[in-house]
Amino acid sequence: MPFLSRVALTLGLSLGAAAAPNSIIAPKGAETLTVGILGDYGWTGWQPLPLDFCNNALLKLEADGVQVSRQLQNDCDPGDRQAISNATIEETRTAHYIEKVCLKKNCSAFISVGDNFYDSGVDFTSEGIQRFYEGWADMYVGEAFDNKTWYQALGNHDIVAGQAGVDFQTRLAPLIDDRWYFGHEHLPYYTYDLTGSNWTATFVVVDSDCFIDNYQKETSVYNTDYVIACHKDTQKQVDFLRESFAKSDATWKILQIHHGYISSSSNYTELDPLMEIVRENNGVVVNGHDHCMAHYQYENTDFVLTGGAGYAEAGDCNYGVPLGPFAKWLGADANQAANGFVTLDINYNTLTFEYYARDMRLKGADYYPVKDDMKPSYSFAVTKHATKA
Ligand SMILES: *[C@@H]1O[C@H](CO)[C@@H](O)[C@H](O)[C@H]1NC(C)=O
Ligand SMILES: *[C@@H]1O[C@H](CO)[C@@H](O)[C@H](O)[C@H]1NC(C)=O
Ligand SMILES: *[C@@H]1O[C@H](CO)[C@@H](O)[C@H](O)[C@H]1NC(C)=O
Ligand SMILES: *[C@@H]1O[C@H](CO)[C@@H](O)[C@H](O)[C@H]1NC(C)=O
Ligand SMILES: *[C@@H]1O[C@H](CO)[C@@H](O)[C@H](O)[C@H]1NC(C)=O
Repeated sequence: MPFLSRVALTLGLSLGAAAAPNSIIAPKGAETLTVGILGDYGWTGWQPLPLDFCNNALLKLEADGVQVSRQLQNDCDPGDRQAISNATIEETRTAHYIEKVCLKKNCSAFISVGDNFYDSGVDFTSEGIQRFYEGWADMYVGEAFDNKTWYQALGNHDIVAGQAGVDFQTRLAPLIDDRWYFGHEHLPYYTYDLTGSNWTATFVVVDSDCFIDNYQKETSVYNTDYVIACHKDTQKQVDFLRESFAKSDATWKILQIHHGYISSSSNYTELDPLMEIVRENNGVVVNGHDHCMAHYQYENTDFVLTGGAGYAEAGDCNYGVPLGPFAKWLGADANQAANGFVTLDINYNTLTFEYYARDMRLKGADYYPVKDDMKPSYSFAVTKHATKA
């Protein structure tokens, strides 16, 4: 690392947009390129705060007028405290599962739909750096993962640390591990192309956190400096999506975001201005947030939900029961949602999405049985090329 960069990092200084692009990128020129898409994964290494602090001390501190950060509040979350033990096991086993499938399928890159670090993101502190390694850098290792670019996006858990957390993921992480890609502008939104022999796919990453009305409530743990500021200017990201798609002659156009516009547990209709642009361009949406996998088709648009790489939750996929004809496939049953991820094979003729659901065994019980989990549980193909709006 150049001396000046090291000094800037040590001092926590901003490096400016002129810093050299540090990340590797996916290989170009393939007839068919395969990428893995996953989200809602980074649980390992998270330690909930002690119960005594959460149940007793926190109240006394607040009563005394002490400002308690969103991170501290969120690290007391009772639901996530309950989830952490299973979530850590599930993330690790799913990482091994992704490795096996990707060795077979030759995944060339990974695409994240956010919630990279529970419970409160990571920032440039000792704990943040530990978490970066435990939850991601040392988690996704092995032949299938080595030297593979991760095109990252932010989820709500990533923004609890506010602007400092966003800076870590967009600016510092690519300098720590060159697989971590977040564009070159150090912004929470960016665009990139995957390029094949005779096709191109334009991806646009937007931070959907900025659009969610609930996060503007003072009581929300997501109501940080960052989200208050970016909510005031969602138009900037809407314009960015419109311009990026308008400039692109790509065969395929894909919006990569965290929240679901259409969902089995919560429809984020605030995302409508983005969806309008996707529809005009014949695009596809990949998202996470719900902790399961699903295929939705709504207003002539395909939505790929791939939020099952960490803690799988059946309720997020309505226990496998479709809420309407928009739900084409749900990776869940009455008791359990599947862990797993989605592979995308891109060539000139088709986008093929394959949903890989893991056979989940724990302590002798098979709590999400999949007969042969090296085969996809579900797949669909998009053949209608993108258009230029
Ligand atoms: C895997 O995909 C990459 C990128 O297209 C290609 O260069 C490489 O030859 C492929 N490897 C195998 C074993 O097919
Ligand atoms: C953890 O997994 C076990 C084994 O399947 C399950 O019985 C239990 O309900 C899970 N706990 C949580 C909090 O999800
Ligand atoms: C990854 O890249 C490094 C440096 O470019 C190289 O030394 C190493 O052999 C590569 N590893 C694999 C598995 O390709
Ligand atoms: C692109 O390549 C694929 C397979 O190599 C071929 O089927 C297709 O016809 C080609 N399309 C164009 C427009 O060159
Ligand atoms: C989301 O919207 C669809 C279509 O209007 C609706 O059928 C579904 O019930 C909604 N989902 C939820 C969780 O309300």
